[in-house]
Amino acid sequence: MTVSHQRTILAACAVVCAAVVFGPGGASRAQGLGPNTVNGLGDPVTPPVGEPVSQYYTEAQATRGRAHFLRNCGVCHIAPPLITKDMMPPEAGFYRTEHTLLPLGGTLARKYPSVYHLFRRIRDTMPAGNPAAVSPAAKLEILAFILKANGFPAGPSPLTLDIEALKQKPLNEQGFDVPFNGKDLKGLGIVLGFMCKPAPAGCGTTNPGTTVTVNAAKRELVFSGQPEGYWYPDKQYRNFDFRFDQLFERPKDADPDDDFFDGNGGVLFPVREHFVFPPTGARIEVQGHNLNLMAVLTPGSQLDPETRRRVQRPVGQWNSLRVVHQNGVVTTYINGSLIAKGTNPYKEPGYVIVQMEGVPMRWRNIRILALPD
Ligand code: HEC
Repeated sequence: MTVSHQRTILAACAVVCAAVVFGPGGASRAQGLGPNTVNGLGDPVTPPVGEPVSQYYTEAQATRGRAHFLRNCGVCHIAPPLITKDMMPPEAGFYRTEHTLLPLGGTLARKYPSVYHLFRRIRDTMPAGNPAAVSPAAKLEILAFILKANGFPAGPSPLTLDIEALKQKPLNEQGFDVPFNGKDLKGLGIVLGFMCKPAPAGCGTTNPGTTVTVNAAKRELVFSGQPEGYWYPDKQYRNFDFRFDQLFERPKDADPDDDFFDGNGGVLFPVREHFVFPPTGARIEVQGHNLNLMAVLTPGSQLDPETRRRVQRPVGQWNSLRVVHQNGVVTTYINGSLIAKGTNPYKEPGYVIVQMEGVPMRWRNIRILALPD
């Protein structure tokens, strides 16, 4: 699609997406950067790592896990700071003499997205050369011990072999708020009603009705398509790292090769007064339009359309979206790749809202981290 075609679509959408702030040169300048800006956005923001707060295992599990570890893994591994090289018995074999003992403590666990991913590594490939030698139950206790060696504190509930539950225990995203619990709408605010403030001031509602529902089996937030509105984590943020997966339902009668889809839903912040859609003013928009996903709609923003073309998955599939705001700099990501960068002149905290603009959509894995000033 040509740039001018895309611009026309965006202009046409501006009425419907009343919130779009095409400041002078805003989106159009971002559109016009062209392919020579590939990799021209500067260093991606390193994912912030907070202190581990999550308690995933019990002390008793870690104690049993330590014994299993020494017996089954100590030939090749240490787990500093809890098991260091000098603590290994002299018979700690092959790797002690022929190789260095590979460390599994410290911060190693944090490179895995979740406890499931670290467990899978151990379950399917360790002990190296003979993964069947240790039972999954014993490996789970070893995992508890490794978590301890990685600074994750013990807690009241044991780790279990429930794979779905293990997937819900992040290792690389400590400290995030999880406003959507996958079961109900408790941590989220909702405003519905085209161009409305919520009642009693306006024609809108904060009642999700049948418009915004939860698919608890899939832990998904579901938007029916009408009436339009937005959802938001029910807490105000100034600096934040906001992450979620998003899917546009593919129209049932779309042709297989039809890649024109102009569904929309963007991220706006800081929103201080509820209104669908908040009036142009002291907040900025990260574009949610499928054809310009994650562009930062501020004057002078930069966009990497080549990378976006490569990483954005088609309508009907999930995309992982991320918007980071730190001290006036906004960066956006699709599926882990840096897409756009802009500046935010507004310093006040406010709600970070996700717009729902007329087409059925779904979200999952919603989490947000308050970043320090
Ligand atoms: C015979 C030696 C040996 C034994 C025994 C062994 N490992 Fe390993 N382990 C390795 C080697 C070599 C690697 C790295 C190469 C690879 O991927 O296989 C590794 C890698 C790993 C990793 C990935 C580390 C990373 O960088 O992310 C984990 C986790 C791990 N082992 C856990 C265990 C656990 C738990 C046990 C005991 C149940 C165990 N290993 C037993 C040799 C061993």
